[in-house]
Amino acid sequence: MKWMNSCFKLVFLLCFCGVCHVLCAGTRVVELSDRFLELRGDSTWLIMFYAPWCGHCRKLEPTWGHIAQALYGTQIRVGRVDATRFTAFAAEFEVRGFPTIIFLRGSERAVYQGDRTTADIVGFARRMLGPPLPHVTELPNLPFMPTATTGREKEEGGIFVYAGPKDGELWSVYSWLADEHRYYHYFYTMDEEHLDKLVGRPLTYPAVVVHKDGSNSLYPGPEGEGVNASLSRWVLHERFPHFMRFTGSSLAQVFKGSKNIAMVVVGESKTGLLTTDETAEHYVDGYKFRDMLQTIAREDRNKYHQHFQFGWTGTPHLANNLVMTRLPLPSLVVINTTTLVCYVPPEPSHDLNHDLTRLFLDAVLEGTAEGRGGDSYAHRVQRAVLGAAWSLQEMWQGNPVLTTLLFGLPMGFLSLILYSVCCGDIMDAPMDEDDEGEGVEEYERRLARDMDHEKKD
Ligand SMILES: *[C@@H]1O[C@H](CO)[C@@H](O)[C@H](O)[C@H]1NC(C)=O
Ligand SMILES: *[C@@H]1O[C@H](CO)[C@@H](O)[C@H](O)[C@H]1NC(C)=O
Repeated sequence: MKWMNSCFKLVFLLCFCGVCHVLCAGTRVVELSDRFLELRGDSTWLIMFYAPWCGHCRKLEPTWGHIAQALYGTQIRVGRVDATRFTAFAAEFEVRGFPTIIFLRGSERAVYQGDRTTADIVGFARRMLGPPLPHVTELPNLPFMPTATTGREKEEGGIFVYAGPKDGELWSVYSWLADEHRYYHYFYTMDEEHLDKLVGRPLTYPAVVVHKDGSNSLYPGPEGEGVNASLSRWVLHERFPHFMRFTGSSLAQVFKGSKNIAMVVVGESKTGLLTTDETAEHYVDGYKFRDMLQTIAREDRNKYHQHFQFGWTGTPHLANNLVMTRLPLPSLVVINTTTLVCYVPPEPSHDLNHDLTRLFLDAVLEGTAEGRGGDSYAHRVQRAVLGAAWSLQEMWQGNPVLTTLLFGLPMGFLSLILYSVCCGDIMDAPMDEDDEGEGVEEYERRLARDMDHEKKD
């Protein structure tokens, strides 16, 4: 620790201008300090607030280097700041969790809330840098478009385009939506002739088109509702690829729409390989299982598109928590996002084929499939208890000593207190444990915070 301190001092001496250009481990990330607040001016920054003890921050570190590399040469500079050292900095930006990623330009600030991948974060920074609604003549090549799957085909989220006069209701709702969803998605305007060319036929204007997975669909119009309600719903539905990857944050976004979620649940190794239950009597290949649902999503698009958002997750506990049971891997689950009722096919995964899966999806639509779970008060309590029990179990499997310490120590103190209350005279000798107690408390607080963060993911 001492050498680190002197190292920091040296660095401070070296950077007289306050913003120190420490190229961390050969990357282009700039290490920032409190002085940044006075000196930043109108420059544009993407800043990560981290804490040295935060595991998620360490995990983000290599990604952050890639992001700095990808944004090199743009106006966006990429920095990071140790929020535990430079508390004024963190307080100024109301940082509450770690890591927090903030886009900053003059007085404009935007907190990033999506998945922590290079593509997603770079896409976010680039969108924030540009005007809210860029005018283009053809769809730009978007190398940092978040892509959904590593399966046979790359599927991409929706890019929205408006063409027509810049007044009237459709325009005002479109520009409002673009502003609302700009953190996550791309919105453009085009001249009518260019949009005609993109779609391959003359359209009636004003028109809104979504481009995704290599094809274009036209916003069908209000159809009896107000333009605001119908265009908002259409954008919510169309912004994701037909077959997407569900993560904590993308799932939260999908829940804002009103489609059912149909997802394949598999495990994912650290290197991104799909895993399933190895020891199961009937082993099922995760890739094949996922391909099956993806094929159905594509082939029966006209039938199911209105009702299902298809995809997969490599984070089983997201699904387990909704279904309130530990699902075998792989599994197929359908979730009604309004009622939180979940549906699981009656057949085990190794018996599922394309036809049975279609029958299952139809049964959900017809209301004949048997659901479980829901959004009642009892279900929420049950979910919370199960979630806590599973985290405890995972912690125990990960680190039994720490778990014992974390839960054993407070229990120990509690029994001591109870004991001293009941049998006061035995505990006459004053106990000098202030220092130790504080240390443990601090440690626990930290762990709790860290775990909280983990849960949010
Ligand atoms: C659309 O409706 C939302 C609320 O549902 C409202 O906040 C928003 O201002 C409306 N937008 C326009 C352009 O009318
Ligand atoms: C979700 O369930 C409700 C109540 O059963 C139903 O009205 C609604 O249509 C379902 N949602 C979808 C997308 O099927």
